[in-house]
Amino acid sequence: MSADGPVLPAVGVTAVGVAAVRAAESERAERLFTDPLAAGFVRAAGSRHRLDGAEGRGRHASLVAWVIVRTRFLDDLVLDACARGCRQVVILGAGLDARAFRLSWPDKLRLFEIDLPQVLEFKEHVVRAEGWRPSCERITVPVDLSEDWSGPLGEAGFDAGRPVAWVAEGLLAYLTPEASDSLVVRAAELSVPRSRLGLTLASSRRLQAWREAHPDGKSKQGDYVALWRSAGPEQATGWLASHGWQAEVFDMAERAASYGRPLEQDARHLNGARLVDAERRW
Ligand SMILES: C[S@@+](CC[C@H](N)C(=O)[O-])C[C@H]1O[C@@H](n2cnc3c(N)ncnc32)[C@H](O)[C@@H]1O
Repeated sequence: MSADGPVLPAVGVTAVGVAAVRAAESERAERLFTDPLAAGFVRAAGSRHRLDGAEGRGRHASLVAWVIVRTRFLDDLVLDACARGCRQVVILGAGLDARAFRLSWPDKLRLFEIDLPQVLEFKEHVVRAEGWRPSCERITVPVDLSEDWSGPLGEAGFDAGRPVAWVAEGLLAYLTPEASDSLVVRAAELSVPRSRLGLTLASSRRLQAWREAHPDGKSKQGDYVALWRSAGPEQATGWLASHGWQAEVFDMAERAASYGRPLEQDARHLNGARLVDAERRW
């Protein structure tokens, strides 16, 4: 595709870094998932949209492990929700997530992708150029998730009277604590009982270390931690319960080991990163 396609905002470039990890994982014999679209997104992004290549090996190993494990965790979560009868999925901060295309969905599955307008514009440009077809009904909702997004989601056809599986993967760190709170509250308000919520929570130790190392807040272009505005609350179960979700919180290292991918020593930056499987019970 031409190098002069739509341009991504800085926070959208983080989605290219994620796609690059998924493309590499898809080549492995013992992969935890296959994402046949990821390499096409990375190619289309080209050198304009690359995460900082100069980050240390430890940081890179952390990002790779984190993306691989969380992708598999959330694939399992949404497919399990569908096996229990859910027919709506909402991917919040979808970026270059290709679940609409790469997973085997049940009939009549409706999947909404929400992200910033420029990010979805870039994605659509590539999807059209490559001729990819989703395996479900896919609806994009271009909106800023730090503003009111429930109106646009409803206008796009979301049905708050039916169960839904929400996914917020690699998203909350880019929102303020207030916007994260209001996102999980809004999702709860739009969820009938037995709806699910899959979340990733960044390590507060990681964010703290970054802030200490960069007291002026300045960093190299493409340093994704520089774009973080919050980390997951330490007491995630209580935080989610107070917002209407009964949550099971998994330690990243424990999940990695359970998938046969124990973390390398170099992935120590992931201490405190967590994966959440929550259900609306009330
Ligand atoms: C690290 S990427 C993860 C993308 C995707 N969830 C995945 O795992 O492949 C973070 C995504 O969150 C999106 N994002 C960040 N802040 C946002 C906001 N205020 N509104 C909508 N999307 C946002 C970015 O544009 C980007 O696509």
